[in-house]
Amino acid sequence: MSIDSAIAQEADIRVIDGWTLHEFAEVTSTNSLAAHLPPWTAVRATVQTAGRGRTGHRWISDENGLWVSAVLPTPGDSARWSLLPLAAGWAALSVVRALGLPEARLRWPNDILVGRRKLAGVLVDRFSVNAAVVGFGLNVANRPDRVDSTLGGEVVRLADLLPEPPSFTILLVRLLAALTREHHRLESGDACGLCRDLGSAWLHRRVEVILAGGVDAIDGHLEGVDPNGSLLLRDAAGDVHVFPAHRVELLREIFPTNLTT
Ligand code: BTN
Repeated sequence: MSIDSAIAQEADIRVIDGWTLHEFAEVTSTNSLAAHLPPWTAVRATVQTAGRGRTGHRWISDENGLWVSAVLPTPGDSARWSLLPLAAGWAALSVVRALGLPEARLRWPNDILVGRRKLAGVLVDRFSVNAAVVGFGLNVANRPDRVDSTLGGEVVRLADLLPEPPSFTILLVRLLAALTREHHRLESGDACGLCRDLGSAWLHRRVEVILAGGVDAIDGHLEGVDPNGSLLLRDAAGDVHVFPAHRVELLREIFPTNLTT
């Protein structure tokens, strides 16, 4: 669908806490659409026909899930914004936990998991130097496993975890507020506060790091994240390795045997 035809089908525009929200029945990808919109604009669609996930994967975006993209300004030194994908994951995690799901957790860099199943994902696109598009996909009452049977057992929805999931408006308002808060933290230079929070989500988890383009895998315990967004890993000898986020292709978690799905 072209941008023009999507806009022609636009259902609603409303303002929420400083955000201008555009709501559509159907788009290809809210991230792609948001690329053409100014900062502090958000795009939500009931259905995405070509939802995009990280690393080129498709993202199943059937009806009754929350598919939203938010455009954030990223002025000045680009290093300041290198933590944005992690910050967006933290924002989403804090919203999910506050729904009464304290067991929700992060998988590198910004997947939200409950047990071993994926509840939500985040895709950050930098279409220009001055803005970033942060896309959230949250499984609410949709059925991704019915669209793609290979997802059976891999995904979880709020409807599986809560007696009554909140409305899309409530989820959206909370997500945008959390994203505004994290953006403010990065803009004001408080990367350390974010690193501390992220460290609390990951600290001491046992993982295997697979580096981009290589066969190397390093086993160790997560020590957290530094202010540049690099991953800190302590190996069995006690040495701490620093991996810039773009070098980490996969962070495979080594689960304790008592972690249930
Ligand atoms: C991932 O975990 O792979 C990231 C998934 C991100 C999905 C969201 S849904 C809204 C926005 N539009 C997209 O096309 N993708 C993101």
